[in-house]
Amino acid sequence: MNMRTSVGIIGAGPAGLLLSLLLAREGIDSIVLENRSREEIEETIRAGVLEQGTVDLMMELGVGERMKREGPIHHGIELRFDGCGHRINLYELTNGRAITLYPQHEVVKDFINARLSQGGQILFNVEDVHLSSVSSQLPRIHFVHEHEQMEIQCDFIAGCDGFHGISRASIPVSQQKVFTRSYPFGWLGILMQAPPSANELIYAYHEHGFALVSTRSPELQRMYIQCDPHDNIANWSDAMILEELQQRLETKDSWSLQVGPITQKSILAMRSFVIEPMQYGRLFLAGDAAHIVPPTGAKGLNLAVADVRNLARAFTLFYTQKQEHLLEEYSTTCLRRVWRTEHFSWWMTSMLHRFPDDDTFQQRMQRSQLEYTVSSPASATSLAENYVGLPFDW
Ligand code: FAD
Ligand code: PHB
Repeated sequence: MNMRTSVGIIGAGPAGLLLSLLLAREGIDSIVLENRSREEIEETIRAGVLEQGTVDLMMELGVGERMKREGPIHHGIELRFDGCGHRINLYELTNGRAITLYPQHEVVKDFINARLSQGGQILFNVEDVHLSSVSSQLPRIHFVHEHEQMEIQCDFIAGCDGFHGISRASIPVSQQKVFTRSYPFGWLGILMQAPPSANELIYAYHEHGFALVSTRSPELQRMYIQCDPHDNIANWSDAMILEELQQRLETKDSWSLQVGPITQKSILAMRSFVIEPMQYGRLFLAGDAAHIVPPTGAKGLNLAVADVRNLARAFTLFYTQKQEHLLEEYSTTCLRRVWRTEHFSWWMTSMLHRFPDDDTFQQRMQRSQLEYTVSSPASATSLAENYVGLPFDW
């Protein structure tokens, strides 16, 4: 069966779904293709921190009501080392900007509900997706849906299919520049049924390695510890995880970790990755399909949002005024923010983790950076403005 749309979107993650909503607001039609089931994408546990700009954009689009109701606003974060906590007052250091804690799978649920209630098309469980003629005026998407071979003819294709997607491969290797860094550690992430241990996120540096205390709801907490990226999660009993968390987060005062049953645990690898350019012919990459950051800066989802905001603006100018300059500049515009975010995420990661081959000199460097960050308003402001997110037009 053949179909026709203006923008064919591969991937129903935050990037693809938000793009379809932004385009719909401008009266531009799109079809979203997703190779997993709706249930699976609505249940995958990933990010938790929304920048101020992401929150503002969701409100402006009318898809932020539940987030506003259920997602607590945090005005600060804590950096903890040597048994002492140091608060970074995000709110004061950034003239009133803050972060909102609202899980990515809830964002995805809200986006899917909003788009389907507008009558938008999202096809789940599609198989064997591939692209053709991406450098022509009429690129095509081929796939199988409910056992039927399908083809969509589009004006443009948005590759929003994440790091493991297929879109990126349609850019000829000779046109790609790829930049990568993998880190010699991973994160072991858990969900724990317990009350919150703190009102704000805690990023801890410890000789055993990094630990992070985050939250999902008053009853469910999200925590991470640095681990060997090749370790098997089966090697980590719940008792071992709790022991490590307690040691890495221990303070000289009376603070204690609230504990309860661990309901989910997994290990994730950490890497930085950028492809340049983020466009080829009529194919435009957005979000994790084009770049990955280690999660220490809580940036991946927010960077995906910034990309699709640029892409939607460029498509809107094309359809309303037949002007192509924003489309031509898309990659250059996005990459400025991408590299700023890559740097911030790498910097936070480097400051807070133990590297296996670090010598004592390197450890003193890290300690000095931490002390400077928490004691110099200039350094704390730099962390704060990157953490809450630079303005979209930065
Ligand atoms: P994805 O969310 O990966 O979505 C891509 C979609 O495309 C998926 O649904 C996938 O199934 C689909 N797809 C893939 N291949 C195909 C195909 N061939 N055909 C059709 N569909 C396909 N970011 C933050 O901003 N803040 C945080 O606090 C944060 N914490 C994180 C914690 C963890 C543990 C992890 C793993 C990530 C975290 N991130 C965070 C990063 C964030 O989750 C990602 O950057 C974000 O999901 C990127 O969105 P996306 O839409 O670009 O890609
Ligand atoms: C999360 O809540 O999952 C989270 C919070 C902060 C990060 C990364 C992940 O830096």
